[in-house]
Amino acid sequence: MRRIILDTYEDVCRAAADVYTEQLKEKPNSVLGLATGSTPIGLYDELVRRYDAGALDFSKARSFNLDEYYPIKKDHPQSYNYFMRKHLFDKINISKYSLPNGEAADAEAECLRYDVEISDAGGIDLMLLGIGHNGHIGFNEPAVSYPMGTTHVELAKSSVDANSRFFGLDETQPTEALTMGIGEIMRCKKIILLITGEGKAEIAMKLFERKIHTDIPACFLKLHPDTTVFLDRAAARDIIVFEEALKRERIKAVQEWTGLRG
Ligand code: GLP
Repeated sequence: MRRIILDTYEDVCRAAADVYTEQLKEKPNSVLGLATGSTPIGLYDELVRRYDAGALDFSKARSFNLDEYYPIKKDHPQSYNYFMRKHLFDKINISKYSLPNGEAADAEAECLRYDVEISDAGGIDLMLLGIGHNGHIGFNEPAVSYPMGTTHVELAKSSVDANSRFFGLDETQPTEALTMGIGEIMRCKKIILLITGEGKAEIAMKLFERKIHTDIPACFLKLHPDTTVFLDRAAARDIIVFEEALKRERIKAVQEWTGLRG
């Protein structure tokens, strides 16, 4: 898992947009994996800017989103379907986009259908991920075991609380979702994970410990052959402090050792 720390949120969005630009240049008919949440909004804005400037063409590409609330109507302003149309799909020329269907009558059947659709498309070339404060990716919440394919899940209370800011007081917030499983995510050929803002500093630090915490779903990405994590300095705050302290200690140890020898 590669790590790139950049100064600001805008730098992270530009770097992520560069990855998408490169991907589409190399393979115009790429299958793109996309995510929701506040983190990727700046990336989507940047992709739209590049598309408007004629630097990006999505006409041969198609996409699959990570997850969707369940149940939820496509036109509900808080549905991920609505979010994606508002921030990206209505503004670019993507040939086809898919999300798990939050309106499906049978959630389990919809999960199987979504997996087949992804596999029929040849799998995902480039997947975008954000991370929850508890380390969730998609809606794979911390658990003892994780799903391989798309699954109907119950959200952790902390995720419901974190996302409640988007729902009005009179709106019912879904507590369930349909999400690609960890296995599905691990099958993506290339992955980029964006971690930004001070609020994510703690989980970013945990993710980069030299361990696989099985209760941090994002830790599985350490086993993926081509994952790059982009962080801004705010999210990398604890990592930077820790590594600087480590460096100072190492210098001190070397100085003591060479002093002793001298
Ligand atoms: C939701 C989504 C995740 C996203 C997470 C973080 O729970 N299901 O895919 O990564 O939120 O969102 P934010 O970027 O707003 O912190």
